[in-house]
Amino acid sequence: MSLTNTPDPEARAKVVKQDLDSVLHPIVQHRALEKAQLVITGGQGSTIVDADGTTYLDAMAGLWCVNIGYGRTELAQVAAEQMQQIAYYPHTAMNLPAAQLGEQINGLMGGGYHTYFVNSGSEANEAGFKIARQYAKHEFPGQFRFKTISRHYAYHGTTLATLAAGGMGDRKVKFEPYAGEFSHVVAPTCYRCPLGLTYPSCEVACAKAFEAAILAEGPNTVAEVIVEPIMSGVGIAVPPDEYHPMVEAICRKYDVLLHVDEVINGFGRTGKMFGHQHYGISPDIMAVAKGIVSAYLPIAATVVKNRVFESFLGEVAEEKQVMQVNTYGGHPVSAAVAVRNIEIMLEEKLPQRAAEMGAYLMAGLKERLWKHGVCGDVRGKGLLIGVELVTDRDSKVQLPSALVQGVVNFCRSNGVIVGRSGGGVRHSNTITFSPPLVITRSECDTLIDVMDKALSMTVATMAGKA
Ligand SMILES: Cc1ncc(COP(=O)(O)O)c(C=O)c1O
Repeated sequence: MSLTNTPDPEARAKVVKQDLDSVLHPIVQHRALEKAQLVITGGQGSTIVDADGTTYLDAMAGLWCVNIGYGRTELAQVAAEQMQQIAYYPHTAMNLPAAQLGEQINGLMGGGYHTYFVNSGSEANEAGFKIARQYAKHEFPGQFRFKTISRHYAYHGTTLATLAAGGMGDRKVKFEPYAGEFSHVVAPTCYRCPLGLTYPSCEVACAKAFEAAILAEGPNTVAEVIVEPIMSGVGIAVPPDEYHPMVEAICRKYDVLLHVDEVINGFGRTGKMFGHQHYGISPDIMAVAKGIVSAYLPIAATVVKNRVFESFLGEVAEEKQVMQVNTYGGHPVSAAVAVRNIEIMLEEKLPQRAAEMGAYLMAGLKERLWKHGVCGDVRGKGLLIGVELVTDRDSKVQLPSALVQGVVNFCRSNGVIVGRSGGGVRHSNTITFSPPLVITRSECDTLIDVMDKALSMTVATMAGKA
């Protein structure tokens, strides 16, 4: 049996039963899935199709990842050709597509980088932690630099170490305790400044917090700092322009590596190829995933500056090589598809398009949503945008969770998939948009329209309850 885009209720019902009987899904409650499911059978551009024939504008590009959009069948051709040539051999040897992809990434960074391939964003960050530790062992003998300093409300992945590095309590709490190699400073969530300050009189105290943390931990114990250029999961936190250069300067002062998480920001999402390029900083370690292959196959990478790479060079007997391996790293088929994905991005100037379409979408959201008192803030860069919902603009009290979820549900029942931030009571009241970079103006108009109606509905619901 196969599912096509022709509605087939019977076939769909079979899949739902098969799934509910035997599959354990990530992060969604199965009781909710029993009531409503998506069974996706197709997609084109920014649109996905359910087996019941319903189409949706996917304003989240799956999980912030299908950057070049759905339905690029030429990538199937690329994968098939590579599979026929050689499907797999471990990356202790070399292969053409992974070599090409490494060269491509190095070029996008302006040179001076080497790339270590893995399979997911979590692994890319985890490999980054390990590379930072091993680098410290090589470069600072006699010191014990192993700690990573991160930020409250950060998300860096789902493994135990990346969860520990993350700062989202609601994602972490079920798996505690963690080992404690990760400490956290305040995040640059300016709309709700954790320090109760206001920009610019704050003098970007949240960036200075890294120096205080490094000193408190002891500089000789700190291997690296990890930041996402624009924090995504917590509701799109765009820091002040000085923030990242200040953090970078602190890292340089204490010989601490700067590890930048570009898993969502990277590959055009924010209107430049990489999010950190807005801020003129130079990562020592960079994690990429998602947009690197627009999720057509799994592949991710930890990209390291040559000064880090060189620390791993030596005679065989010195045992300075990267002391880890993963079976699928540098997978030729995924790499071949990633290479073509990036070529498509460059040919179609998708980062530039994200900047232009993002500006259009953000302007439209501001213009149409501001009349609703529940619209507290509209912020973002490129096609990474959030609308923070409040009970009223002056108090900034977060809109209750059920009403925020009501907006997500309303959008879905009106044909638009939107996201919602995490971050517990303090931060889970932002509706997020991270559509394919090929989204059209008319699709942006649809999104704005549906959000406008969703907020009207929310205001009416609140009035009814008052
Ligand atoms: C910023 C960031 N880093 C890392 C990850 C982990 O990536 P993955 O889910 O591919 O392991 C994510 C996932 O959404 C992310 O948003």
